[in-house]
Amino acid sequence: MSEVQAIILVGGEGTRLRPLTYGTPKPMVPIAGVPFLARSMERLYEAGITDVILAAGYMPKAITDYFGDGSTLGMHVTYAIEETPLGTAGALKNVEEHVHGPFFVFNGDILTSLDLPAMIEHHKRKGGVGMLHLIEVPDPSAFGCVVHDADGAISAFIEKPPPGTAPGNDINAGTYLLEREVLDAIPAGRPVSIERETFPQLIASGKKLYAHVTGDYWIDLGRPENYLAAHRDVLAGIMPLLVEPGVTGEGAAELRDRRGIIAPVHLDAGTTIDPTAKVGPNVVLGRGCCVEAGAVVRESVLWDDVLVGPQATVEEAILASGVRVGKGAKVGAGSVVGHGYVVANGARVEPGSKLSDHQK
Ligand code: GTP
Repeated sequence: MSEVQAIILVGGEGTRLRPLTYGTPKPMVPIAGVPFLARSMERLYEAGITDVILAAGYMPKAITDYFGDGSTLGMHVTYAIEETPLGTAGALKNVEEHVHGPFFVFNGDILTSLDLPAMIEHHKRKGGVGMLHLIEVPDPSAFGCVVHDADGAISAFIEKPPPGTAPGNDINAGTYLLEREVLDAIPAGRPVSIERETFPQLIASGKKLYAHVTGDYWIDLGRPENYLAAHRDVLAGIMPLLVEPGVTGEGAAELRDRRGIIAPVHLDAGTTIDPTAKVGPNVVLGRGCCVEAGAVVRESVLWDDVLVGPQATVEEAILASGVRVGKGAKVGAGSVVGHGYVVANGARVEPGSKLSDHQK
């Protein structure tokens, strides 16, 4: 097998993460201060995969500006920018000229501890035109259910089966290892879904796709509640991304022993927290955040330069860069606040609110 390349699908609009994705494309949404895509790239580098194609479309400049040609990461990054979304298989067909052999495909919003070299080894043993990473979930009704036999040969794909009707509990976990010939099966010039069209067609035509079922950590970051859950898991060390659990980050040094700081928390550089404020547990504060006197921040992720005013409360919320929470304001559970939004002094933000200044 020649060196495995990687194609990362990063072209989606990320509608479920709005209003965060009005200002930041989903792959650049930070996980404990670092864009998620940068964390994925690190994972590829560690697995020895350095030739990466980014299939982008929505807000591509944020991505190209950050990664450039990839050389600062020791990688080679090629971009394909879709003017209109081509779908998860159309995006692969669109980069065909850059693909030289077997390649990984990653949905750009999956956080997982999957062992990539182990999957390559498994694919070599099984053969076939491709291997799909599957994970077992208690209820597959919200996912793409994948049916396979005891030998791993996949026989069917059932998208979002009604509860209780799925023939198995293994779901498509969004990482595929494919042979180049799979691209021959994708029509050019129109949107094509790999899950709905290409995989079922390959099987119908007698090609073999195999299951790679693992018990790895896995979460789809594309929904606000999952984004918060992923941070809880990273902070707890369940998903091993940070060096050590506890009070971490460049801003942690002088704040580590502060009474009002309840681990686990991650504090980036330039964070200031008033001695009378309470921060944690399960809080991430980005660069330059400021939590003022008597304020409380719990179970929340704040991006860069967020100000939490005196006596304000932020619970189970996501606040994008530049948000200002006024004095005594309360931001309720499940709220998502977009870039630069100002929550007025004393305001009560109802649980589950989506606030932003974005004009369509
Ligand atoms: P939602 O709008 O919230 O559903 O998010 P999304 O637009 O990202 O769609 P979804 O989560 O289903 O996409 C899964 C992955 O495929 C994400 O990493 C997307 O960026 C990517 N993706 C989806 N559609 C396309 C496409 O047409 N082209 C490319 N290049 N990537 C896509």
